[in-house]
Amino acid sequence: MKLILASNNAKKLKELKAILADMDVELLSQREAGCDFEVDETGTTFAENAWLKAIAVYEATGEAVVADDSGLMVEALNGEPGVYSARYAPGGHEASDKEKYEYLLSKLEGVEQRAAKFVTSICCILPGGEVIRTVGECRGEILPYPHGEGGFGYDPVFKPEGYETSMAVLGPEVKNQISHRANALREFKKELRKYNGIDK
Ligand code: IMP
Repeated sequence: MKLILASNNAKKLKELKAILADMDVELLSQREAGCDFEVDETGTTFAENAWLKAIAVYEATGEAVVADDSGLMVEALNGEPGVYSARYAPGGHEASDKEKYEYLLSKLEGVEQRAAKFVTSICCILPGGEVIRTVGECRGEILPYPHGEGGFGYDPVFKPEGYETSMAVLGPEVKNQISHRANALREFKKELRKYNGIDK
């Protein structure tokens, strides 16, 4: 089954490919599927943004599409950066991952309560128009300093519950088992199997 990921984020595509490797799915990026546009993430929830990305690519291609919208929610910041995770620094969308997590660390300077969670909302639209939605979380805390170079986004400053170091140091084998995206995709795979019986 061909499935288009409504994103051009190469690192996200790689994570999804690894997590979906046990399914009979050929995953293409949005650009590979001929969609050379960026969808405005104007929603106020992860689910809304996942829907906006999925429907835009579905309407352009008519093919099965999966979209994921994710972000980091920090308790002491009342759930920020949340849906603004990709533009959470003075440079907005232009800010690098490093600038974003450094900005987050500056907001948490002197704050002891550092609980946080990553959240992913998945929205898949199948060729007949059926919609699958799933959600996944990964709880942890924000470290005082960045550690490691792996992963992307806020991974260097996020320590998952039950581990002693950052997601960036833990690397893809661990991340793809425990991450918000892995948890949402685990549920998604169950639903996809139910819908189509496409699993090999
Ligand atoms: P997106 O809208 O799903 O692409 O995610 C928005 C932002 O959340 C990204 O630009 C990252 O900064 C952050 N983010 C999403 N997923 C992850 C992850 O797995 N690790 C670290 N940061 C992430």
